Amino acid sequence: MNDLLTLPSYLDHPPEIAERITELRARPSVMCVDGLTREFRGSGAAPTVALSNVSFEVRQREFISVIGPSGCGKSTLIRILAGLDYPTGGEARLDGRAIRGPGADRGMVFQGYTLFPWLSVLGNVMFGLKMKGMTGRQAQRVARDWLERVSLGKFAEHYPSQLSGGMKQRVAIARALANEPRILLMDEPFGALDAQTRSAMQAHLLEICARVDVTVLFITHDLDEAVYLSDRIVVLGAHPGRVVEIIDVPVTRPRGPQQFLSGHFLATKKRLEELIHRPHGDGPAGDGEIAAA
Ligand SMILES: Nc1ncnc2c1ncn2[C@@H]1O[C@H](COP(=O)(O)OP(=O)(O)OP(=O)(O)O)[C@@H](O)[C@H]1O
Ligand SMILES: [Mg+2]
Repeated sequence: MNDLLTLPSYLDHPPEIAERITELRARPSVMCVDGLTREFRGSGAAPTVALSNVSFEVRQREFISVIGPSGCGKSTLIRILAGLDYPTGGEARLDGRAIRGPGADRGMVFQGYTLFPWLSVLGNVMFGLKMKGMTGRQAQRVARDWLERVSLGKFAEHYPSQLSGGMKQRVAIARALANEPRILLMDEPFGALDAQTRSAMQAHLLEICARVDVTVLFITHDLDEAVYLSDRIVVLGAHPGRVVEIIDVPVTRPRGPQQFLSGHFLATKKRLEELIHRPHGDGPAGDGEIAAA
């Protein structure tokens, strides 16, 4: 009985992809993660090495995902990049400058809803703009423009408690992008959403990235989500958290849901499964087979 599909290798890049990879590599670096190590020392017990010598580069307008098993240091990594934690070895640089703390040059969208409940949707998006010294009128114009871009123009006067989970995350994205950050840092931003809203948010994010000059570092543990959204995927292993492979996603853009069943999509997902769910099964990276659905 042969009910297995033969897949291409995830390393087999169609010409369009090979061209895009060359073009991406030629772009200026936005963020450089350079030998990052983070040890947590408790009282007496052996230290936890959350990250060990993690290195990769994020280039202008690239969408890069970080994926790995629970506890491999994904949130620790993004917290360091956000300036909310510090490394015990190595450093992360934004535009060549070492990250020493939080800054408006990084936009953040995390899993929990981090909107100010006492401010309207418009007030939430205007908040950072006014902090940067924009006048109320200017901030309002920019904020309204961003709310239109995330299709929430009609909800400007609503309060967060009146919005669905997906809408709240769209406000959080608008708020982050309104500040024109050099990089958008997202830690499982759609993790709390139901499957349908999640896929709508993925489509939304793809659309924003196609239209706006934005560089994204995205953390997820959802393999489909990582392949669907990313140019590259950094795969971390656990204990200690370390880079096990960096994969160039061989799926063409623009992306659409029909690609979930393409050979290159499935081959990449299969490789991620090998690396994450069967960490000792990472044999040679060749042609793959996958059970037919
Ligand atoms: N403040 C802390 N003090 C001590 N240990 C910590 C601290 N923060 C994280 N750790 C440890 O570092 C490791 C990595 O944690 P982290 O939250 O970064 O993992 P993660 O990959 O984001 O996991 P998940 O997928 O479950 O969100 C874990 O072993 C965790 O227990
Ligand atoms: Mg985490």
